[in-house]
This record gives sequence, structure tokens and C-alpha cells, in this order.
Amino acid sequence: MSIQQENIEKLVARREAARLGGGQKRIDAQHQKGKMTARERLALLLDEGSFEEYDMFVQHRCTNFGMEKQHFDGDGVVTGSGTIDGRPVYVAAQDFTVSGGSLSKTMAEKICKVMDLAVRTGAPFICLNDSGGARIQEGVDALAGYGEIFERNILASGVVPQISGIFGPCAGGAVYSPALTDFTVMVKNTSYMFLTGPAVVKSVLGENVTQEELGGASVHASKSGVTHFAAENEEEGIRTIRRLLGFLPQNNLEEAPRRETADPAARVDDALNEIIPDNPNQAYDMYQVIRSIVDDGDFLEIHKEFAKNIIIGFAHMGGRSVGIVANQPKVLAGVLDINSSRKAARFVRFCDAFNIPLVSLVDVPGFLPGTQQEYGAVITNGAKLLYAYGEATVPKVTVELRKSYGGSYIVMSSKHLRADLVYAWPSAQIAVMGADGAVNVLYAKDIKAVEDPAAQEGIRAQKKAEYEELFNNPYQAAQKGYVDDVIEPRNTRWRIIRALEFLAGKRQTVPAKKHDNLPL
Ligand code: HXC
Repeated sequence: MSIQQENIEKLVARREAARLGGGQKRIDAQHQKGKMTARERLALLLDEGSFEEYDMFVQHRCTNFGMEKQHFDGDGVVTGSGTIDGRPVYVAAQDFTVSGGSLSKTMAEKICKVMDLAVRTGAPFICLNDSGGARIQEGVDALAGYGEIFERNILASGVVPQISGIFGPCAGGAVYSPALTDFTVMVKNTSYMFLTGPAVVKSVLGENVTQEELGGASVHASKSGVTHFAAENEEEGIRTIRRLLGFLPQNNLEEAPRRETADPAARVDDALNEIIPDNPNQAYDMYQVIRSIVDDGDFLEIHKEFAKNIIIGFAHMGGRSVGIVANQPKVLAGVLDINSSRKAARFVRFCDAFNIPLVSLVDVPGFLPGTQQEYGAVITNGAKLLYAYGEATVPKVTVELRKSYGGSYIVMSSKHLRADLVYAWPSAQIAVMGADGAVNVLYAKDIKAVEDPAAQEGIRAQKKAEYEELFNNPYQAAQKGYVDDVIEPRNTRWRIIRALEFLAGKRQTVPAKKHDNLPL
């Protein structure tokens, strides 16, 4: 065998060994836990044959606690580039079979390298987490590695989309990288995220809690809102990441890709003319409106289980990617509160950062009252959504479906926050408040002055009717130009699509500044 041939065989053998990570035994253990390996995940995530691996021979440099005797090529993370639906992405997948995927300084350098390439070339960055946290043997070096990843997450924010998959443990400070990225996908029962685990919770607070109860996918999807998606299994989690990317541009300087559709832009839906109940206190399902107006009824909902009184997600309209924000009358009457405000605010800011037009469907009775909300800073949190809409310069199309009262009318992408086109259905009610509340304030003395309860009711009913006649329609707002047109509900799809076509060339700026001071 020639020397060259021998060299090539050594390379092949070394590659094969590296692909086994921490070895077959640990791979089997990973499978027994119902988890895939880092490489199996990447094979599913990326288009077949597109993965280009970097730093396969990198090894850690730690010499503490016998680590100098324990080396695996590539260390505990697999990094590189590949394509998803033909579009480039950069990836890092932590390999739990090598020291539990714990982060060494060398691993951090590998991750930072692909993050830098993602930003330099304007391609999304995806990190699949499955790690025991900072590599304990490395001390501050491991912490430095995390810090350098966090700094890159921050600098890449708003430049390229960043997506985190949580496919195993993600604890301690390690949770902050996913928290800094745009979207997080967790997997039910095999992944968790928390700052301090059940043992510390028990010793400090005396609380007994399991990993799943403390930081499992279901908890973060429904209670904390830390994760945007909770997948049933890893395959579904990976499919979600692929699907999500289909709505996004590669970077902040590009538009999202157009998607061909056979769904006619001019399609009308007569059912929408009937969807608003006669009784204003009766709910209807906003999902029906969303599915009716978007291309092929295809809607990728984000934060599905969290703050269900507002619905957010991506769809295509006339082939264009749009971000949809819609109040849900079926949950808490569609009221805005702390969680729905911050959920929608972050989404609006993402869409604005990445040139995705915003379509807002409004049916909002106001902000949720009460001490719980006030003590939890509903003012500051509500201001986040107000701020997000007000600063957004992407095309903004708003449809006022029914209630649109008080501060929440302004917040929900009103004309006053530079919405480009505001349409209203004939059922829209744009006012400072609903009729009952208004009459109670305006005519309290008149009602009190009459002793007979029946007569009181009579005054109340008469004044309510007067108020409703004046305000329970969109024409006051339309007369003043705050609503650009009153449209038949059945025409909503094509009116929005036509609006988006005309707004496609929109250019709008905000005053020059170092950065804003969003109410946090
Ligand atoms: C070094 C680690 C490690 C770590 C796990 N391993 N975590 N090695 N540093 N942080 C190693 C184990 O020694 C073991 O090595 C292998 O990974 C698999 O771990 P197991 O414990 O056998 O697996 P499992 O039973 O599934 O438990 C997984 C685990 C547990 C729950 C993650 O390993 C664990 O609790 N690890 C420590 C977690 C932790 O406290 N990390 C520090 C958090 S603080 P062998 O050789 O036997 O395969 C932190 C600060 C970050 O991360 C700050 C950033 C700002």
C-alpha cells in the first residue's frame, strides 16, 4: 500500500470513529431514552446529502481531572452547514454521547465558528441542544464558552433567524442561548429547560417537583411561554423547524420566499358574512377567519398553548409570507393581558426585523382589569405590544372585525400607529368602551335620580341604544379616515392580498438612534 493510500485509509477510519461520538454503548443508551443522536437529528433536519461538517477533528484541551486521557474527535458537538429546502443554513447539534454534550471551551469555539459564518453569509443558524451544561472539569473556560455564544446570539439577533431545538437537558445558564434566539422547539417528555433543577428547588424551597413539571415542554409551552413549540417527538420537532424556515427570509436584507399556490387570490368566502353573532357577547372562532383568508388554509401557529386569547403565526397570502396577529374572542373574550401582550409583541418585532408584513385581525374588548394584572405590570407589558406595532415599518394591514375599544383599539395596529391600511367589517365597533360601561359612567346620576328600578332600566336601555347607534359601527372611524374602507367580510382575503401587493415597495424609517428603549 502506498503512503498516500495509507493516509487516506487513516482519514476514513478517523472519520468513522468520529461519527460514533462517545461510542456505540452511549449511542445505544441515547436510543433507549427515546432520543436520536446528534448526527441522526442533522440527517433529518437537512436536505439529503447536503451536510458539510466542520471541525470534525477538534478535541478539547482540558487537562484537569484526568481529562487529558479522554479524547473524542469533534468533542461534544457536531457543526457545519447544509440546506433546508435548498436554502443554506448553519447548524450545531450537541452530542450527548460525548461527556453528556457538556460544553467545553473547544465546543463553544466550534459553535461560534458556524454562528460567525451564518452572520457573515446571511443564513439562518439552528442549534440543537442536548447537554449537561458547562463542562464541569473546565471551570471558567466552559463559562467563557457560553458567554461567547450568548454574545453572538445577541449580535446575530435581527440579522439572521436563529432557531433552537431542545432535544434533551438544557439547564443552568445554558438556557440563555435558546432564550436569546427567535424560536424554540422543545420535545415532550425527553427535553427540559430550567435554571435550577428539582434537587435545588427541594433544598431551597422544600418543593417536590419533577423535571417534567418544572421545565418540561408542556409547561414551557403553556405556562411560561419559554418555548414556542412543544413537539410530540423529535421527528415532529425537526419537521417544525423545517416548516418554520419556509416562512422566513435568509436574513434581514432579504424578503421571505414566495410560495406558489393554486388557491385563487380572488377567492371569496360567504361564510365570513355570517360569522359574527348578533349577540355581541357571543364568541366565534377566530381560527375560522384565519384559515379562510390564508393560502390553502395553511397556518403555522406559534405559542399555540400560551396566552390563547391572542393568536400569532405565519401564513402565506397570495404567495407572500405574512405574520398574523389576531385576538381570539373564544378565550377571555379576546382581551389583552400581560401574557398575550408580550407574546404578540415579540412576534411583531420578529416580523418587523425580517421584512414580514403584518396582518392584524382585531376583536378586542380592552385590557384585562384587576390586581393580578396590575401587580404583574400589565401597563409595561401592554406597552411592549404598543411599542412593537408603533415602531414596525413593514407593511401593516389591519382588519377591525368587531369590538375595538379604548387603549386596545390603539394598540392593535391602528392607523395612529402607522398602520398602512385599516379595513373594517360592518360589524366593527370602535369606541372608548362598550355601551354598558359607557352608559354607567355617563348617566350614573340620571339613573340614580330615578327610584323605580323599572324606570332605571328604561333609561339605561334608551341611552345604551343611543350610544350603540352612534358608536357600534365603523362609520365614525371611517368618516375621519381612521378606517380606510368598510368591507364585506367575504372579500377580506382578496382585499388584504391586494393591499399587500401595493404595499410591497413600502419604505419607512424611524429617527436615527443608538437603539430604542423598549419597555422591558
Ligand atoms: C461534565 C458531564 C456533565 C457536565 C454530564 N456529564 N454532565 N460531564 N460536565 N456538566 C457526563 C457524565 O459524567 C457522564 O459521563 C455523561 O455525561 C452522561 O451523563 P449521565 O449523568 O450518565 O446521564 P443522565 O443520567 O442522562 O443525566 C444527564 C444529566 C446529568 C441530568 C444532564 O448528567 C447531570 O445532572 N449533569 C450535571 C448537570 C449540571 O449540573 N451541569 C452544570 C449546570 S450549571 P460518562 O463518561 O459516564 O458517559 C451550568 C452553568 C452554565 O451549566 C452557565 C452558563 C452561563
